[in-house]
Amino acid sequence: MKEPRIRAMRLSDLPAVMEIGGRSLPRPWSEVVWREEFYSPFGLYLILEESSALCGFIGLKLISDEAHVMTIAVCPERRRQGLARTLIKAALSEPASAGARHVYLEVRPSNLAARALYASLGFVETGVRPGYYGDEDALLMTLDLRKNPLP
Ligand SMILES: CC(C)(COP(=O)(O)OP(=O)(O)OC[C@H]1O[C@@H](n2cnc3c(N)ncnc32)[C@H](O)[C@@H]1OP(=O)(O)O)[C@@H](O)C(=O)NCCC(=O)NCCS
Repeated sequence: MKEPRIRAMRLSDLPAVMEIGGRSLPRPWSEVVWREEFYSPFGLYLILEESSALCGFIGLKLISDEAHVMTIAVCPERRRQGLARTLIKAALSEPASAGARHVYLEVRPSNLAARALYASLGFVETGVRPGYYGDEDALLMTLDLRKNPLP
């Protein structure tokens, strides 16, 4: 089997991206939201593919010196093999991310896998957004790239 490779998301990837999102996230984005994000001038969307099958994706929003992780998922069959970590590092190494000094994201307190992933990369919990998900608060996690450059 070929090594997974990371490339920019294409509009034609949306069905496969949405399929993984539907199996991974409690509130997956609709096609309308995906298209809005896809065409955003501030967005950076990457996918991970293996033998031409899509197995993960990440989306960042880049404004000024801030990067916001908007979404990330790895297909259930390929989890715990370092792919999410690879996706985050790849997105933050893209030329579009060159000006980013701080990285932010929201995560459900109940999502222990994602919290452990972010903590393993140096993110720290910096706040709570009450009722963010409707059914759950969000933890705000932040990575200061000046103090914690990714290896
Ligand atoms: C969260 C998610 C993206 C992690 O993807 P992944 O490819 O399995 O993560 P990685 O293999 O890169 O894990 C890197 C580190 O994160 C931590 N981690 C990841 N999954 C974990 C789990 N289930 N339990 C504990 N720690 C976990 C570990 O520290 C791991 O390093 P290790 O395997 O060397 O111990 C994946 O579980 C997923 O798609 N979940 C559903 C979507 C989601 O929750 N997205 C985040 C929304 S905020």
